[in-house]
Amino acid sequence: MNRIKILPETIVGKISAGEVVERPASVVKELIENSIDAGANSISVYIKEFGIAEIKVIDDGEGIPSDDVILAFQRHATSKIKDEKDLQRISSLGFRGEALYSIANVSKLKIITQYKDEDTGTEVYLTGGNLVSQKPVVTKGTTVEIRDLFFNTPVRRKFLKSSYTEKAHIIETVQNYCLAYPEISFSLFIDREEVLNIPQVKTLYDRISQVFGLEFTEKLKFKTISKDNYKIELFLGGEELLRKSKGRQLIFVNRRPVKDFSIVNTIYKAFHINENHPQFFIFINLPPEDVDFNVHPAKKEVRFREPQIIHQLIFRMSEYQVKSSMIAEETNQWKVNADLSSISQISAFYTESIFNKEEIFHFFSIGDAIVVIQRVDGIVFLDFHAAHERVNFEKILNKMSEQIVKLTFPHVINLNPQDYVLIKENLHILNELGIEAEDFGENSIVIRALPEIIKYIDIAGMIENIALTLKEGTSTPDFIEIKRKIAATIACHSSLRANEKINHFEIKALLQELERTSDPEHCPHGRPVRKFISLDEIKKWFLR
Ligand SMILES: Nc1ncnc2c1ncn2[C@@H]1O[C@H](COP(=O)(O)OP(=O)(O)OP(=O)(O)O)[C@@H](O)[C@H]1O
Ligand SMILES: [Mg+2]
Repeated sequence: MNRIKILPETIVGKISAGEVVERPASVVKELIENSIDAGANSISVYIKEFGIAEIKVIDDGEGIPSDDVILAFQRHATSKIKDEKDLQRISSLGFRGEALYSIANVSKLKIITQYKDEDTGTEVYLTGGNLVSQKPVVTKGTTVEIRDLFFNTPVRRKFLKSSYTEKAHIIETVQNYCLAYPEISFSLFIDREEVLNIPQVKTLYDRISQVFGLEFTEKLKFKTISKDNYKIELFLGGEELLRKSKGRQLIFVNRRPVKDFSIVNTIYKAFHINENHPQFFIFINLPPEDVDFNVHPAKKEVRFREPQIIHQLIFRMSEYQVKSSMIAEETNQWKVNADLSSISQISAFYTESIFNKEEIFHFFSIGDAIVVIQRVDGIVFLDFHAAHERVNFEKILNKMSEQIVKLTFPHVINLNPQDYVLIKENLHILNELGIEAEDFGENSIVIRALPEIIKYIDIAGMIENIALTLKEGTSTPDFIEIKRKIAATIACHSSLRANEKINHFEIKALLQELERTSDPEHCPHGRPVRKFISLDEIKKWFLR
């Protein structure tokens, strides 16, 4: 048994310090990490009012020895590391001795715990970090109950985003640890409603399908590589799981969820794509001395001792997966992408004329999204994808009712619990934008009607992206702002894809429609739509 001790100053100075409790989800994260470190087989999380009223985490782990319970709330008190050597090879999720101290400081906290080899346990109650009461109890494992989070730091409380954004962060946190620890059962209740109930399973594959559904998981390709003491397991979604915005891209290093842009980039490189985003889960395991988690105060970033080994392995695995699916599917889009340079060269020489009463103009396309239009007074470069987004954005925002089509068969979309919460609470906004959607229970929604312009698109992908937009949230949930953001996401899905050929009639119609919008110069995300270079300017290049 490792007893809790206060870390010596020399080590404290080396620990990356910073904000531990930023939002309710950070509390959930820290408590779950403690339960996992305590060897729990089962972890239950109860939330009330998006974590502000109550966060309770119950585990069946080894518990805290009676004599150590008070000490656990001191700053830099930990049983997980002792000296600098341990800091260089961290094998537990916790190591700073910061979490309980920081959480207790901004809440009213009760802990009920009993160490596995003792006959009685301890219940301790603190408010704002001050001890109020302590008494013996009999229990099993550890229960930590937090009430009135940020009651004494109103500013932090004010900075919380909308309730559904905070709820989504909580669900995502539980989901992440759920994925990394298939041998632990997890449950999550929010306002008495069961959001997750995930029994123990043996494999990562089974766990992914428990959380995201079998239909999604079956579309993932699995590859594992072991080299020396390194093991990487990659679950990579193929072309049909490509998304317009970053969907599920989860990276775990030694079972800790982390953010690492260089790993994400390595996978993108294997895809040869720059517009759509692959979905993947990657689990990297390596000796603790080869990775440093002491980089970011919330332990979200990692530093590898030999990053090139990791990147090479991941690149090879991803490339192998991408290539193998290209062989499997003859008409694969990726193959087309690989030959993209030759396609755009051909189209560059392809000049079209449009004749009508008022105007005559020529255009040709360059690259995969730009058309160059000739005018008597200069040339216009038009990003037709962005132009289309602007036009559709306004159509959706202004909900032209004659353009709503009823679906012959209502479309039931099964969502992951996090997306479900976000979408369910904003169904009224979807309805205002012409997407007739209702709650269908059990993490599903049903769609009965859609705006004409999106009736053929991947609706499930679009709904997931809307959830992502909602998760980013706004600090003052402003209805109009949210509505605009959702409309922009829908417009993005409805718009012409890059690589899609556009003919002269479409360009002409697009230009006319663009002129009628409130801002023909920008797409809904603020990117420029067109650029004009006057003949005078061009002449200047030649000193004329
Ligand atoms: N659920 C739990 N079960 C058993 N012991 C626990 C539990 N939660 C906390 N502890 C004990 O309390 C100590 C302090 O917890 P705390 O989370 O503050 O620090 P830590 O986990 O050591 O490091 P970090 O700040 O990085 O999380 C832990 O080292 C552990 O000994
Ligand atoms: Mg901890």
